[in-house]
Amino acid sequence: MIYFDNAATSFPKPEIVYDEIYSAMKNYGANPGRSGHKLALKAGRGIYETRDALSQLFNIKNPMNIVFTMNCTESLNLGLKGLLKKGDHVITTSMEHNSVIRPLKVMEKQGVDLTIVKGDNKGRIDPADIEKSVQKNTKLIVINHVSNLTGTILPMEEASKIAKENGILFMVDAAQSAGVYDIDVQKMDIDLLAFPGHKGLLGPQGTGGLYIREGLKIKELKEGGTGSISHSLEQPEVLPDKYESGTPNSPGVIGLGTGVRYILEKGIKNIRKHEEDLTNHFIEELLKIDGVKAYGPLDIKEQGAVVSINIGNEDSSEISYILDEVYNIAVRPGLHCAPLAHKTIGTFEQGVVRFSFGIFNTHDEIEQGIKAIKDICKEI
Ligand SMILES: Cc1ncc(COP(=O)(O)O)c(C=O)c1O
Repeated sequence: MIYFDNAATSFPKPEIVYDEIYSAMKNYGANPGRSGHKLALKAGRGIYETRDALSQLFNIKNPMNIVFTMNCTESLNLGLKGLLKKGDHVITTSMEHNSVIRPLKVMEKQGVDLTIVKGDNKGRIDPADIEKSVQKNTKLIVINHVSNLTGTILPMEEASKIAKENGILFMVDAAQSAGVYDIDVQKMDIDLLAFPGHKGLLGPQGTGGLYIREGLKIKELKEGGTGSISHSLEQPEVLPDKYESGTPNSPGVIGLGTGVRYILEKGIKNIRKHEEDLTNHFIEELLKIDGVKAYGPLDIKEQGAVVSINIGNEDSSEISYILDEVYNIAVRPGLHCAPLAHKTIGTFEQGVVRFSFGIFNTHDEIEQGIKAIKDICKEI
């Protein structure tokens, strides 16, 4: 099987990630932060080491400002719902995933004022459109770093600057960029950074996190046991406990830490270079094939390792089915939980076939993917 569905979740993971998850369950599977015995302390230490590795990766000063969640969706919900109140204005873009749009649509019904800045047909956002949308009551700008539909890199620096100049908070959905693109929360003035653990960070599914800037008060989504300040009937205010009630996914979080350390060791620049080379290779070959419609910038300087295509007017699910059944190639068809992004690039009716590459893909696999597309084009 050739796996080109890394934007959904990365696969495979580095061997050491599997080993560490197994070890965390088998050798020290106690409940961290609860009992004081050796096994609980070892599990707690493992979780702290993941915070520490993530802090190195994202240049976060205090590892305790990272809150673990189940996935990027939960991180985004926590940030958005914890922050925005009736009467606040929020700016986002038409290239967002439903994990941003749906919570904002719910909040819009509750009195949050929402502006969705429209991208062009390659998924690019003009920062001037963000700036024009600023109002007196704008509390937050929330954008994704890299589009999960077109791979388009959004204007992070410019959006951050607009936020800073206008006293607005800046939140980033790093679902498609964490582990591949440089993210420095201090340099980029990011107040809230939502990331999944199971995509570019090479951890298991059921992991994710939210970085919350020091001193930023947001409401928790849930209350409960934290293993700390147990005499109190009130939720602790201290981070990360305020947001991490209940037994954590220790094996998952410890596996995530192993994934992040693997990235730190390999070097994020080398990983990006590999993914850029693969994407470039794919785009160059794709553009030579008659009958293929390719979307997005199709320029590696402007995009990540995600390329979406259609073959003629064929249904994207049909093409994806053939790739899977006949060629053993895993891709994702349809709307990719991003209906507004599809409307933006004009593919809402047909959907697209999305190819997304990862650290373990090879140039030989790209060649095989191209050959399969050529064959299907001839057949149809
Ligand atoms: C841009 C973007 N945001 C958010 C998400 C949600 O991530 P998760 O599946 O970890 O909840 C995804 C998932 O594909 C995504 O691509």
